[in-house]
Amino acid sequence: MSHAQESDLRSTKIAIKRLHKNFWLRDGQKVEALRDIELDIGEGEFVSIIGASGCGKTTLLRIIGGFEDADSGSVEIRSAGQGRLATSTVFQEESVFPWLTAEENVGYGLRILKVPAQERRSIIDHFIEKVGLGPFRKAYPAQLSGGMRQRVSVARAFANQPDVLLMDEPFGALDEQTRLVLQDEVLRLWNEHRRTVLFVTHNLDEAITLSDRIIVLGARPGRVKAVIDVDLPRPRNVISLRSNARYGELYQRLWDLLRNDIAGSDGGHA
Ligand SMILES: Nc1ncnc2c1ncn2[C@@H]1O[C@H](COP(=O)(O)OP(=O)(O)O)[C@@H](O)[C@H]1O
Ligand SMILES: [Mg+2]
Repeated sequence: MSHAQESDLRSTKIAIKRLHKNFWLRDGQKVEALRDIELDIGEGEFVSIIGASGCGKTTLLRIIGGFEDADSGSVEIRSAGQGRLATSTVFQEESVFPWLTAEENVGYGLRILKVPAQERRSIIDHFIEKVGLGPFRKAYPAQLSGGMRQRVSVARAFANQPDVLLMDEPFGALDEQTRLVLQDEVLRLWNEHRRTVLFVTHNLDEAITLSDRIIVLGARPGRVKAVIDVDLPRPRNVISLRSNARYGELYQRLWDLLRNDIAGSDGGHA
């Protein structure tokens, strides 16, 4: 059985069909941001999106999250039921509210969803502990490090239990060590609470470490260039994974797909 057939058997959570998006600049010039995007994301699947800067990754995530309209095509998110958010988003820029404490931030979506206080309390406690923020639960964002603030964001996104979690370079602004620690936390959270996750990153190690599949977007216009299955065993550990021979092969393959786009337009003259 081919990979394509296997993935058809998984129940589809997000179906994206023939998505197009253009932007018009002030001088009337057209930027074709996304062309003919077709994707099926399975229930509980962890999918990363990589591609050169400006290839449309954020635009794609924003359309899926409902922050932006497509020009044509459709995005369908199969909902698990009422009283839950379709999507929850973690951005690279910090998206915590500065006037709320860590635990109030984690519980914010649950309040909006009118989850009863007692249940809210236990969900908040669970996720605050999971991301190691127990001692800082009453702290305000200004009293936390950048890594801790992103932990609050990640905990809030999982606590909302949305149909789909969208993350746009959530660790892009963090130092390498903090980034590794947070990747490990996302791996553990995801193992325990299999959400459907779409994760944008420009970091190849991060994409391989976290994902079941990696979507490679080509630049100008953004289109699906390749879809790579990450056939590394789970549960995974951020560091020990890297000594796996398959890891190196995947890295090389991704880099071969990306290098021309990243180097610029010289690919066209080859
Ligand atoms: N609001 C906007 N107006 C005009 N052009 C935009 C806008 N948002 C994004 N773009 C353009 O669309 C393309 C894709 O952008 P983006 O999705 O942010 O890329 P990525 O996240 O992959 O770096 C880029 O060429 C960018 O300049
Ligand atoms: Mg972006």
